[in-house]
Amino acid sequence: MKKHLDTEITPALKTRLRKPVVLTGLMGTGKSAAGKLLSEKLDIPFYDSDQEIESRAGLSINEIFELYGEEKFRDTESKVIRELLEKDICVIATGGGALTTPAVLEAVKQKSLSIWLQTPVPVLVKRLEQTKNRPLLKNDNPQAVLEDLLEKRKALYAQMDCHIETNAADLKKTLSNILEALQKHIIDETP
Ligand code: S3P
Repeated sequence: MKKHLDTEITPALKTRLRKPVVLTGLMGTGKSAAGKLLSEKLDIPFYDSDQEIESRAGLSINEIFELYGEEKFRDTESKVIRELLEKDICVIATGGGALTTPAVLEAVKQKSLSIWLQTPVPVLVKRLEQTKNRPLLKNDNPQAVLEDLLEKRKALYAQMDCHIETNAADLKKTLSNILEALQKHIIDETP
């Protein structure tokens, strides 16, 4: 199965991919790690919207939230992601809350092949136990926060082209599931 993916799906995808690929989903689902691997596999550039924001601002995500608040962060995030979507074909990992900005949701739907990485909340809680750079999780009950965010966001994530279940730890499996889903989506889209 893996051999089939390596030898057949990737070249077909490379030639037929016409839009950037966007990875979205809650914090900790592995968007950045899987996105980087996907970009290497397809030999196209990779962008992480949080990293782009940090390097443009010269501040960490925590500092941006602390100094300017979430609203300002969302404005910058929206600008950065919409700019990235105008680039040549690439892989973009968005921050988990990016789709809550209507302009981002619309741009992602119009201009990319989009993927929702879905991971059970208890798995995310475990993965994010030690995290220090997620301002929204700086509280006593990260499980409740993540459940609440999922509840509020799942209707947005559900609008993505492909939905992939992942435990976020097995990157190779996530990558092959993404490649398979993209391939299927591209074939289904082709008249
Ligand atoms: C956020 C997710 C984070 C980052 C910020 C807000 C969210 O990105 O953008 O802390 O609202 O879910 P990751 O999903 O990459 O952790």
